[in-house]
Amino acid sequence: MKPPISKTALETLCVHAGHERGPVEQGLNTPIVTSTAFDYTRDDQVRYPRYLNTPNHRVVARRIAALESAEAALITASGLGAISAVFFGLMRPGDHAILLEGLYGGTSDLVEGLLKPAGFEFSTWDGNPDTLAELIRPETRLAWVESPTNPLLRVIDLAATASILADHKIVSVIDNTFATPILQRPIEFGFDLVMHSATKYFGGHSDLLCGALAGSDKLIDQIRPQAIRLGSSLNGQDLYLLERSLKTLAIRVERQAANAADLADWLEPRDRITRVFYPGLVGDAGHQIAGQQMSAFGAMLSFRLDSAVDPDRFLEHLQLITPAVSLAGVESTICQPSRTSHARLTAQARAALGIDDRLMRLSVGIELADDLIADLDQALKAAA
Ligand SMILES: Cc1ncc(COP(=O)(O)O)c(C=O)c1O
Repeated sequence: MKPPISKTALETLCVHAGHERGPVEQGLNTPIVTSTAFDYTRDDQVRYPRYLNTPNHRVVARRIAALESAEAALITASGLGAISAVFFGLMRPGDHAILLEGLYGGTSDLVEGLLKPAGFEFSTWDGNPDTLAELIRPETRLAWVESPTNPLLRVIDLAATASILADHKIVSVIDNTFATPILQRPIEFGFDLVMHSATKYFGGHSDLLCGALAGSDKLIDQIRPQAIRLGSSLNGQDLYLLERSLKTLAIRVERQAANAADLADWLEPRDRITRVFYPGLVGDAGHQIAGQQMSAFGAMLSFRLDSAVDPDRFLEHLQLITPAVSLAGVESTICQPSRTSHARLTAQARAALGIDDRLMRLSVGIELADDLIADLDQALKAAA
């Protein structure tokens, strides 16, 4: 029998949680089940990949549930598949949800392009716990937050938010993509449901598109039928890759966060940078709360170039850090949210959020921090 795994040993959970060593293969790795057709006469459950119930789904879901201190998890074909499943699983047309302002652009786009036209109602919350209760209506079903947010790295007080929502019996949902359960486990602060773009740190190698939800058995059971109807399921090959990536999640994220802290410290005093957004900086508005709810400050940071630096030239001169959409791979990447994650918002909505072409969002990888600093340094000089 395997020794029990300590509830807090995240490094160990990453490698072992949910793994089943079957009687036939006895291997250390989960076999990839490629079948889409399963014998239904031998089981009390009809197995089918779109029903999210193949052996590969089961192993990865258990691992993510364990990492998030949740009872259950659901793996979807993208982060947006997971987000859609939550709204359609927990709300009906006419119901109301509260959204933190400045959410990931794709979430806002889903709300504007699909959910509002379908009759779902929304209010925007400024993130201050004192103003949350006044937004709650009789038909409010859920509140959706991110912390830290994409791309301005704003931090929300998780315990205060979850407690107000619990008092009003509103489901609290958080997009925990930027923090990962290695640095922040919202369910331990009272959140009901955690969502991930598993495309990011969970996959970690810029080669997978997937999503995940973790929460109570009851909530996951309520959402699953809509995830199935939305057709948001992952195939066995990708589930296996996700399981493999999760094994190194803790060491990748710890290294990436340590690198990000070094880069933020280097960027902050630079003449050509007007502002650095990173909760690890002592002067950052979210520093104190982040210190209470995160074990490190994350591996994402943003900064704004001053008017003497040409943003296009700066990007052209980077030699190691690659301009790219998406984030969280082992390689450092950089992007302008105005032209990528938030490009679908109106110019007015972007301006209101403070997102312009001078804002650079840096996803810090596992390279040597000094090499990354040298690259930023030479590109800043060349573009000034
Ligand atoms: C914070 C955050 N949430 C959700 C998503 C959507 O995930 P996906 O692209 O896997 O659908 C993204 C994608 O960039 C993201 O950055």
